[in-house]
Amino acid sequence: METAQKTERQHPVGGSEAEAIIEVRGLTKRYGGDTVVKGIDFDVKRGEIFGLLGPNGAGKTTTMEMIEGLRRPDDGYARVAGYDTRSQLAKVKEVIGVQLQATSLFDLLTVREITRMYASFYNTPTVPIEPLLESMILGDKLNGRVKHLSGGQKQRLAIALAIVHSPQVVFLDEPTTGLDPQARRTLWDIVLRLRDEGKTIVLSTHYMDEARILADRICLMDQGKIVALDTPANLISSLASESAIEFRLPAGDHAAGADHPSAERLAERLETIDGVRRIEFRKESWVLYTDALQRSLTGLIAFAEQEGLALTDLQTRTATLEDVFIQMTGRSLREE
Ligand SMILES: Nc1ncnc2c1ncn2[C@@H]1O[C@H](COP(=O)(O)OP(=O)(O)O)[C@@H](O)[C@H]1O
Ligand SMILES: [Mg+2]
Repeated sequence: METAQKTERQHPVGGSEAEAIIEVRGLTKRYGGDTVVKGIDFDVKRGEIFGLLGPNGAGKTTTMEMIEGLRRPDDGYARVAGYDTRSQLAKVKEVIGVQLQATSLFDLLTVREITRMYASFYNTPTVPIEPLLESMILGDKLNGRVKHLSGGQKQRLAIALAIVHSPQVVFLDEPTTGLDPQARRTLWDIVLRLRDEGKTIVLSTHYMDEARILADRICLMDQGKIVALDTPANLISSLASESAIEFRLPAGDHAAGADHPSAERLAERLETIDGVRRIEFRKESWVLYTDALQRSLTGLIAFAEQEGLALTDLQTRTATLEDVFIQMTGRSLREE
């Protein structure tokens, strides 16, 4: 069904021995009184697709632009291929490619003209233009004007412009936002191919599926902080073992919310039920996350009987990546 399939790695990335091509340490950005990126640390390994996943406002763009040298960090630093983005920006620019927003392209030029123009900006060697555009599935658009391209074609042209100088690292900020499903899949294929050709890719997205399909590792961001960083396989397998039990309690002290003193005591006791790993109270429901659904369910029912609690709307389900995000942040990844 999906044309974008993650192929088995042909080069050894993912092992802890893989070389870090990007180092981010204590990276911080403040606007007025707000700290929007809060001292984050991570490495991007050479040859991987590194996904920054988080809701709008999480700090993904700010983080990427500090690494690209487009915004100055207020604290901390980023290094790309060993070059500090604050003091060695010219060197950084040689090794990175940044996908421009499609809206900032010159509309009246043809695809070939704009690509030539971008290539002319570099003193270093650039790649042959026609094969590059063909590889971006724009071979039949060489003489077409930019303004007549579809959204997906513009995004692919923006990637072509970003890699015309053959950079080692490519930054793609929400590359498929606003595209239809077919155009998204075409773009996914291109991103995977770039990785297979040896490029390192830093990609931001607020789409869970995109991160799961493309990223070798996902850095989950929220409110300027990293909430989790792992391979999708590890994130997903850690979830696969988890189930959720949801229920409500009749109005009263326990239903008042997790902050209420008696609810806090209740939460402490629910936590002692066999298999229960954590407890949440949200939208007037209690949620028990468990490794052992049957045992926890039996334990909960026995507990409720013993305490005289009348459980209502009791249901069980498998936890999802969305649950992980909610567990870690208390919020949903999706747009509210
Ligand atoms: N130039 C700016 N001035 C003030 N606030 C900004 C600026 N750029 C970003 N922000 C704020 O920083 C936060 C993170 O923004 P951003 O990095 O764009 O998040 P994301 O890309 O994850 O949606 C948001 O709250 C945003 O409003
Ligand atoms: Mg953004």
